[in-house]
Amino acid sequence: MKKEIGIGLLGFGVVGSGVAKILHHHQEDLTYKLGVPVAIRRVLIQNKQKQRETVLPKDVFTDSLDDLLNDESIDIIVEVFGGMNHAKSAMERALKAGKGVVTANKDVMAVHGRELLSLADQNGCDLFYEASVGGGIPLIRTLEDGLASDRITSLLGIVNGTTNFILTKMKHEKKTYEEALAEATELGFAEADPTADVGGIDAARKMAILASLSFSEEVQLDDVYVRGMDAIEDGDLELAEQFGYTVKMAGSAKKDEQGVEVSVEPVFFPNEHPLASVNNEFNAVYVRGAAVGETMFYGPGAGSLPTATSVTADIVAACRNLLLGVNGKRVHSYQYERKVKADDQKFARYFHRISVQDEIGVLSRLSAIYSKNGASLATVIQHANPNREDADLIFITHAISRKQHLDVLNELKTAPQVNGVLSHYRIEGD
Ligand code: HSE
Repeated sequence: MKKEIGIGLLGFGVVGSGVAKILHHHQEDLTYKLGVPVAIRRVLIQNKQKQRETVLPKDVFTDSLDDLLNDESIDIIVEVFGGMNHAKSAMERALKAGKGVVTANKDVMAVHGRELLSLADQNGCDLFYEASVGGGIPLIRTLEDGLASDRITSLLGIVNGTTNFILTKMKHEKKTYEEALAEATELGFAEADPTADVGGIDAARKMAILASLSFSEEVQLDDVYVRGMDAIEDGDLELAEQFGYTVKMAGSAKKDEQGVEVSVEPVFFPNEHPLASVNNEFNAVYVRGAAVGETMFYGPGAGSLPTATSVTADIVAACRNLLLGVNGKRVHSYQYERKVKADDQKFARYFHRISVQDEIGVLSRLSAIYSKNGASLATVIQHANPNREDADLIFITHAISRKQHLDVLNELKTAPQVNGVLSHYRIEGD
């Protein structure tokens, strides 16, 4: 029986320092739960000279990965420095050295998860990645264990804290996009390069991870349809409000007999939809199962201690497996072949905002483009702009395919009297 479990930490930023705090402050509870203490033995950092506020002794910090991999008292490597190649190769080396790996790295897991999980299997090691999705919400473990008896049919939710924080601040406090993003960065929610957040890629990585796990098939990052926050035009948040909607950057994944469809994009939710009131850096995900029906998971989706809570939960799980001698005993394989739906197989309602010349007959001419494409309209509204010759036309469709939606937009763009397609949104949850 081991007397103590040794941890090697890769990185000491927002999440790494949070893990050190939790292991320190909850030491007594964790020792009670596991029967042995857990200690951070070494921490890999880039700059040894940098001043750090920490309870860890100075000599645990090193700039050499070998110091961690060659240390036999380190059982588990915790990768929290993020990024791609460097992190992936460190994880591979750790697994090959027979050490369990815990990671918060969605970039790596979304693209190389399958490969790394099989490397973990081959080496009899655990590889856990709870913190890669949903910050402090135990989503991965819920899908793997809590809902293991069910067949998941869909996921819908908010999986990026930064964009949700920005949209909340813009809507409720009338902050500018730049002000809200600066605040999210200051609070440690945003990625080192926040274009991954605002461009939707961070959420797309998370949705690829969740969809692969939920549907037991390899959903690749390229399978995710992504539109970033730049699709939200000036005035759209207010316009949504006028129509009774709230704009959220939403991730969606569905599976039926035809295949899977996964997307990340700004979406209109009716104000009374629970996801419309998920604010700030909070995340929430609806998971629908064939047997269980609808379940919802909610909590802080970013930030030091929430994310570190998930990382530390994985450390506890890996420690338990080590102590029980069952580490690396899970077999990671997908039950189904990857099958992705085409655009004419994906259906939703859409909101289109079109700028037009305010002239007689324009509305009927544009409506005809919808009927020609078999796209049924639920609502058509003209917003005249006082003292201007143009107007905004709002078209809200019934459920149409993404192909119809895109075909209509393409035709609208080139129609006479159309100044431009200002913006368009999928509508959820009506
Ligand atoms: N930048 C991420 C977010 C951090 O804002 O959700 C948590 O993954």
